Amino acid sequence: MENENTDTGFATKTIHAGTNQVEGAVNTPIFQSSTYKLTEERYAGWAAGAQHTLLYARLSSVNSDSATEKICALEGAEDGLLFASGMAAISTTLLGLLSNGDHIVAAPDVYGGTYGLMAEELPRFGIGVSFADMTDPSSYEAAIEENTKLLYIETLSNPVLKIADIPAFVEIAKRHDLLLVIDNTFTTPWATKPLEMGCDLVIHSTTKYLGGHSDIIGGVVVGSAELISQLFIKKVHFGGAPDPHACYLLERGMKTLHARMPIHASNAHTLACRLSEHPLISSVNHPMMESDSQYELASKIMPNGTGMLAFTVLGGDDAASKFLSNLNLLFEATSLGGVESLVECPFNSSHMFVPEEVRIAAGIHPGFVRMSVGIEDVEDLWKDIEQALDSI
Ligand SMILES: Cc1ncc(COP(=O)(O)O)c(C=O)c1O
Repeated sequence: MENENTDTGFATKTIHAGTNQVEGAVNTPIFQSSTYKLTEERYAGWAAGAQHTLLYARLSSVNSDSATEKICALEGAEDGLLFASGMAAISTTLLGLLSNGDHIVAAPDVYGGTYGLMAEELPRFGIGVSFADMTDPSSYEAAIEENTKLLYIETLSNPVLKIADIPAFVEIAKRHDLLLVIDNTFTTPWATKPLEMGCDLVIHSTTKYLGGHSDIIGGVVVGSAELISQLFIKKVHFGGAPDPHACYLLERGMKTLHARMPIHASNAHTLACRLSEHPLISSVNHPMMESDSQYELASKIMPNGTGMLAFTVLGGDDAASKFLSNLNLLFEATSLGGVESLVECPFNSSHMFVPEEVRIAAGIHPGFVRMSVGIEDVEDLWKDIEQALDSI
């Protein structure tokens, strides 16, 4: 995929990279078409493998190409593929690269849907999965077997916000000749660029910060042209392609990524510091707080921070549920990364199907709350949080 924005800064890329200026339009128009007229040039593109040839929107579309080009510019990737959801990106990547008899190493505290795919679905296809500790790269190395093909990590794990020491994982993956796949949803390329650190593939649920407005479901995988061309045909076979309109909204949402992220991060830091002093809060997970045990690593891996935080309310899940229902401004809803603040208890939402003992071992204790801090006025957010805690 051609990227004309290699010499520009991050903000310029978020705004300009990938735009298809049809008729001089400053935004890529929505090409709501499932198929395209077959021309000599397109027949030739089809014969050559069809990637980046406008033939049929399950393969690619004008809008998916534009949004993909922008993400590639931001992540520093050669190429990428957009999907109808983050899970479609993850499942196509894993099922596309792995075969019966292969083995991978991942962590139990990855996103709940990813955990389900790994614990329940991959083994049905004869793909072995070992779970190790994302905060301890040597535990991944210890879990490597003769048939291991891939290591899977998240920059910042969901929901306990553990940071992966990416350079340490890169070193292990290279030494054992394994693919290193990372889900960068929670930090975005504004904070962390895993490909520059040596990862092979970066995945996002674009539903979250990249889209940024809680109005689409989408996913993406980016990396080298070679790996992406291998995955292109798997996307065609598995069929998880995105609709052009969702791609348009994603492209539009990404134009303000650089403007939104600093406010998400600063609001989250302020709330994390205040919550850590509140008598009803027993612990706060936010790696950008100097008191957090991961602060040093966070400054190395994601120096710009994140809008995510988590904390434990004294009184267990009952107290946490009351806190959530007392909120007026913050929405009790699953998902994250939108301009509005969202809050949930993973035990009854995003991680409901993860067995309780796995949740507890991962640090999702009774009373655990995950908060995606939006870009509202931080004092309004704090006022709402304080009153909701006071009325438990
Ligand atoms: C880190 C992470 N990866 C992947 C996904 C799955 O994305 P989607 O809901 O777009 O399928 C999620 C969803 O919450 C997530 O939080």
